[in-house]
Amino acid sequence: MSIYGDYIKSVIRTVPDWPQSGVNFRDITPLLQNRSAFRKLIDSFVHRYQEMGIDAVAAIDARGFIVGAPLAYELGCSFVPVRKKGKLPFRTISETYTLEYGEAEVELHSDAFKRGDRILIVDDLIATGGTMLAAAKLISRSGGQVVETSTIVDLPDLGGSQRIREAGYGVFAVCS
Ligand code: PRP
Ligand code: ADE
Repeated sequence: MSIYGDYIKSVIRTVPDWPQSGVNFRDITPLLQNRSAFRKLIDSFVHRYQEMGIDAVAAIDARGFIVGAPLAYELGCSFVPVRKKGKLPFRTISETYTLEYGEAEVELHSDAFKRGDRILIVDDLIATGGTMLAAAKLISRSGGQVVETSTIVDLPDLGGSQRIREAGYGVFAVCS
């Protein structure tokens, strides 16, 4: 957790029963509207990764882009989008993963980075961990070195971050 973790958590809104009954949706829009909180959020990631020799930030479609782009800019590295199926125009590699109901797929351009590049993966939230794990597998299959997987919010009760760690990837969360 970051030094701003409690503060960041306090400006994230929980919306019960959305998008379906039983889900407590963590809504980051109040955090994004709050300029001080948004700056502290990006600073938390910059502080953690600025000395880690990151070559590229790989951000997950769509909410991961909100963090990934300013972070890549601040770290002075490149930005790689990991997108939902059918959005990337060039040659892609893909990874299928399981959702609560059914399956989904994420894709990466085959020329997104060089073999051996040090890649940081970011998203807004880890729930079951399926999305983050699929992204990490994609990066690994492409020859990237996953330095860490990183998120604004981890929901540890859903077991996702544990699952990601058990697969051999580090996890950093600003708050949980
Ligand atoms: C949300 C969230 C994560 C993922 C987490 O994305 O932004 O990417 O779910 O869930 P998991 O840990 O169970 O895989 P969503 O697929 O809703 O897409 P969005 O960012 O386009 O809203
Ligand atoms: N993605 C999956 N579960 C979520 C939750 N509880 N809040 C926000 N985004 C999510």
